[in-house]
Amino acid sequence: HKPEPCCFVIFGVTGDLTHRLVIPALYNLAESGLLPEQFCIVGIVRKQMSEDDLRQSLMDGLNKHATRPVKTEVAQKVLGCLTCLEADPSDPASFDTLSKAFEKLETAKGTCGNRLFYLAVPPTAFAPITEQLGRVGLLREANGAWRRLVVEKPFGTDLASAKALNGKLLKIADEHQIYRIDHYLGKETVQNILVLRFANGMFEPIWNRNHIDHIQITVDEKLAVGHRGSFYDATGALRDMVPNHLFQLLSLVTMEPPTRFDARAVRSEKAEVLAAIQTQRPEEALRNSVRGQYHAGKIGDQAVGDYRKTPDVKPDSTTETYAALKLTIDNWRWAGVPFYLRTGKALGLKRTEVAIKFKQAPFAMFRATPVDQLSQNYLVIGIEPAEGITLQFNTKVPGPTISIDGVEMKFRYKDYFKAAPSTGYETLIYDCMIGDNILFQRADGVEAGWQAVQPFLDAWKKAGADGLVGYEAGSEGPAEADALLARDGHNWRKLT
Ligand code: BG6
Repeated sequence: HKPEPCCFVIFGVTGDLTHRLVIPALYNLAESGLLPEQFCIVGIVRKQMSEDDLRQSLMDGLNKHATRPVKTEVAQKVLGCLTCLEADPSDPASFDTLSKAFEKLETAKGTCGNRLFYLAVPPTAFAPITEQLGRVGLLREANGAWRRLVVEKPFGTDLASAKALNGKLLKIADEHQIYRIDHYLGKETVQNILVLRFANGMFEPIWNRNHIDHIQITVDEKLAVGHRGSFYDATGALRDMVPNHLFQLLSLVTMEPPTRFDARAVRSEKAEVLAAIQTQRPEEALRNSVRGQYHAGKIGDQAVGDYRKTPDVKPDSTTETYAALKLTIDNWRWAGVPFYLRTGKALGLKRTEVAIKFKQAPFAMFRATPVDQLSQNYLVIGIEPAEGITLQFNTKVPGPTISIDGVEMKFRYKDYFKAAPSTGYETLIYDCMIGDNILFQRADGVEAGWQAVQPFLDAWKKAGADGLVGYEAGSEGPAEADALLARDGHNWRKLT
């Protein structure tokens, strides 16, 4: 159904996120008939910028980044409802007249005072903008009108800064008004994890330490750091990917069943399991982690230079572009089960997956194939690019003798569903408009994520260059990441 009338307000309307994702997602929603009947987009601009110029620039962005062929009448309908208002986040006084301007606009557009403020701005601007919106009363919910705030990761750079940011936002807006985006939750394959686990009767009985040997989460990227040197060098693979994206996967795979499918229950269970990740002592954190940095190599036929030669990266940088961790979760379901997480840039293949390795069959009744040579039982949740689910198991090779080999049963989305190509933001934006927070991070979940990676951040900082290992661009990552599993008698799942 269509959301209630609303004003969709964009800070950072001239920026990359707006052009590349927000407007193309709004376009797709419009094409699917999922924008409100009374709707307007308000672009917040610094100095009076002509609406026509902004509209043209957004139209160019749409033509460039649209995921579907652009229909002129739909595009004109979306961009036709654009209005510019002036405010400058670095000049608080410029917010003073905003309240009046909104009231006037809302009466004209019939949007009933419902406002969604989308902060498509650098994270340092989240708190200052929110503070100004709060000061002039634009976030106050009254007379049945809702006021919402949308922000996207990074939420802090460590536990202390994440807490400080949450504290500042929560001083002004209530938790139910804040929509913290982790774009992994916009992916169908990620949303499907809960359906796989809880809409089927056969997985949950074996989804625990009695049957699961260990779990591997892999987010390998082919992309090198490229033009993001200044952001990335201050951030690194761990901060950039683990407490957010990898932990979204981890928490969905390991959480207890929520009593109902609503934002409170689901987010409480997710935060609960992240809070149960065992805190590692500094020496354990070093022993249970690998940090790597790429040097020159080839990804496919494309040559990639040393990470340290990337523009805006320090020539003696010790920032990791690859991280692998071993974690454990201290609760009844998972005690003793290792979780291996890895993510890196400039690798040979793009692969995002969760591989659940089940315990081996206990007894070698098939003499010709010793039990340790049976192929491994994996349930693989393919997030990208192999979107689907694969089950690996053993089968008798046809013939007069008993010989056993591993085979795969595969479900692929593309074989079953014909979804129109999307940006991955449609569901998230639609959910903000209908007021459903399930797919957004709550403050406690964000903090639990940082809490779990903080020992690694601290131990790595202290170790400096010690322990930083190299790997070649275009490879599978550092050999030390294989050793991390080999030590426990395991290996990363090979692509078949
Ligand atoms: C972003 C990170 O949050 O996620 C990027 O900042 C990374 O460094 C990206 O490339 C990965 O997203 P996806 O959807 O391509 O796996």
